[in-house]
This record gives sequence, structure tokens and C-alpha cells, in this order.
Amino acid sequence: MSLSEKGKNRIEWAAREMPVLERIKQDFEVRQPFADKIVAACMHITTETANLIKTLAAGGAEVHLCASNPLSTQDDVVEALNNEDNIKVYAKYGDDTEAYYNHIAAVLSNKPHLVMDDGCDLVNYLYTKEPSLLENVIGGTEETTTGVQRLKAMEKDGLLKYPIISVNDALTKHMFDNQYGTGQSTLDGIIRATNILLAGKIIVVAGYGWCGRGLAAKARGMGAKVIVTEVDPIKALQAHMDGFEVHSMDMAVFSGDIFVTVTGNKNVIDSKHFVNMKDGAILCNSGHFDSEINIKALKEMSESTKLVKDNIMEYSINSWDTVIKIYVLGDGRLVNLVCAEGHPSCVMDMSFANQALCASYLCDVHLEPGLHSVPHEVDVYVADLKLNSLNLEIDYLTDEQIDYISSWKEGT
Ligand code: NAI
Repeated sequence: MSLSEKGKNRIEWAAREMPVLERIKQDFEVRQPFADKIVAACMHITTETANLIKTLAAGGAEVHLCASNPLSTQDDVVEALNNEDNIKVYAKYGDDTEAYYNHIAAVLSNKPHLVMDDGCDLVNYLYTKEPSLLENVIGGTEETTTGVQRLKAMEKDGLLKYPIISVNDALTKHMFDNQYGTGQSTLDGIIRATNILLAGKIIVVAGYGWCGRGLAAKARGMGAKVIVTEVDPIKALQAHMDGFEVHSMDMAVFSGDIFVTVTGNKNVIDSKHFVNMKDGAILCNSGHFDSEINIKALKEMSESTKLVKDNIMEYSINSWDTVIKIYVLGDGRLVNLVCAEGHPSCVMDMSFANQALCASYLCDVHLEPGLHSVPHEVDVYVADLKLNSLNLEIDYLTDEQIDYISSWKEGT
């Protein structure tokens, strides 16, 4: 089977679990919301993303796609989109930093009207290196928590020149993608890279946000003992009452077998932590950037390094009076996308339904420059379509109930 054929088959396989996006695609085929529109997209190049891009193309868009992480690109998907679907994809698995940014530049050189980003690298490049292209842009979307954080910082500095919808803030995105998607696919990445048994292991989860909560729950489901580290007292309390041990990272390092960071922050695991770890500790990250584990410091502390097998790098360091080995998965980049295939299509169906509908909304409705939430009706529409595709029925409020919950008069 050629690479392109393999990619085509896998994209079709993912589509089977993406009925909401398919429904939107059918609507776009008729409505053509993106006729004459050029879309620049910077996303993880997976089979699910391919289905989103095909949906936009079906709605009349000319789409140019590059990767939002050099190690998450699936080359068979790139080939299939380029060859079978005539969509320009600029990415290759393992691109170095220069190639990564050259591809972003190439996508932007098409003078896009819509800018769809995952992590804000595309937007950052647009504003800092190609500001003259801004006048052409009518709107954009952002997929992930880290990207939204950056856009909020740009908005605070008064920089945003066009409307951007924070897709991550849709309930049908972060409640499902971040929680169930990251929860499952992070463990999938760890297992595929290492083939270790999780039952009985001590897994340290740094960050108890949407992703961390999902991950902690799934790890417990696999029989692991979970320790949570946090900086937010409320989230820490929630982790405690959800039944997890809560420690500072300074303490957790002594007992953890596996460490996973999902904070969106930097140097959450740092040089002071490595020396106190157990021999054989496994470290990985599922947050957006490879900044959460200080791998630069780890390299500097190491006597030697060895690639043990695909995606497992061994670092030998001096720990007090002995030498220990620490293993880092996927170079500290998103373990679920580097060591596995990313989120299951079933959840990406909702995330990318929001992406597609928000892109269309930006073409239909005039929004002021700045960061905007996903319209509530879009969120509810996506949930309704998903329920429908799962053959799940819910109840509807009666008139009597609507009156009751909207009035203050009835009591004991
Ligand atoms: P969130 O904001 O809900 O949670 C992050 C949590 O980390 C917060 O509770 C915060 O208090 C905590 N935190 C921050 N600094 C910390 C530190 N030094 N130590 C311990 N805890 C700390 O964010 P969410 O949605 O859970 O996303 C987390 C990261 O995962 C982001 O970078 C996001 O972009 C990324 N992400 C990755 C996905 C994947 O496919 N792997 C999917 C979705 C999001």
C-alpha cells in the first residue's frame, strides 16, 4: 500500500467516528460558506484534522495546512491530503525548527482570509513577521488552552486586529476533548512507547485542569496510584476530594514511577527534581509545548544519553552518590500525539465541528476585533447533533417546568 493510500484509508476510518462533522460537511457542500476564501490552518496533522480540512474544502475554501508540532505530523495523512484531496499541506514528521517555521511562512504567503491555529504559533508569526498580511484576515479560531492564554495576553496588550474565536472554551470542546480525549490518549502514548503495565504504578499528574482531571481518572481506572501536583488551591482541593493524593512536586518526585505534565506551564519538572527521582522514572508531557519538563537542564546534568527505542531517551545522571537513569518519552512533546495517534476521533468530532461552525460564523457575522467565545447556540447544536448520532434521547422541559424554574413565587 502506498503512503497516500494508507493515509486515505485511515482518514476514512476516522470519519466513521465523526458523524457530526460529516453532517456539517453536507450542509457546507450546499451552502458554500467559504466560497472565494483562503484558509491558513496550523494544526496537528492527524486523520481527524484531515476530516476537518476536507469539510472546509467542501464548503468552498482553498485550504493551506501546516503542522502545529514537528513530531505530531502523520506523513501518510500529508500524502493523502496532497495527492487524493488536492489540499496543500506543508509538513513532514520530524521537521526541525527552521523547516517548521518555513512551513508556517509558506502557509501565510497565500494571503489567508481565515487563520485557524492550535497553540498560537501561526498567529505569533503573522503578527511578528508578516504584519502586512493582517489587513486581509477577516477572522480566526484557536483550538487549545495554551493558544487561548497567549491570545488573552495579546488582547491585554491591545494587539488583536481581527476577531478570533476561542474554540477551546466551547463546552463541547474542553469538557470532552481535553478531559476524555487527553485522558485516554495520553495513557495510549505512554503504553505504545513503553509497553509497561500501569496497574500498581505510581503516576504523578502535574496539573489538575481539564486534561489532568481526565488523565488522573483514566490512570486510576487502569489500576495506577495517582498523585496530583497543583499550584491552584481550589484544583488541589478538588483532586483531594476526588480521592487522589496531593503533594508538591518536591515531594512527589521521591515516589513517582511515571510523571506526566499537563499544565501549559514551563519547567514544572526541573533540575532540582531529577536528582531525587527513582532510578528508571519515566517522564512525559501532554501539555501543548515541550516546555514543561526542563530537558535542557536534564541534558546538561547527564553523563550520557541513549535512544533506547523509538520515542524513549535514556538520561544517566548523578543522584547523590549513585547514577540513575531517567527516561523521557517523545522528547517531552505531546506524548499522546508523538507516541500515539492523538485523541480518539469520537471527541475530535465535536472539537472540529466547533472549528468548522465557528469558521463559517466568522464569514457570516461581523465581529469586532478581539477574542470571542463560541456562540452558545453553536455549542448546543454540536451537542444535539452528537447525541443524535449516538441515538441518545433526552427529556424536554414542559411549559410548567419552564415557568417554575424562571419564577421566584413557589416555595415550600
Ligand atoms: P487548564 O487550565 O484547565 O489546567 C491546567 C492546570 O495546571 C491548572 O489547574 C493550573 O493551576 C495547573 N498548573 C499550572 N502551573 C502548574 C505547576 N507549575 N504545577 C502544577 N500545576 C500547575 O488547562 P487544560 O485544558 O487542562 O490544558 C493543559 C495543557 O494541555 C495546555 O497546554 C493545553 O493546550 C494542552 N492540551 C493538550 C492536549 C493534548 O492533546 N495533549 C489537548 C488539550 C489541551
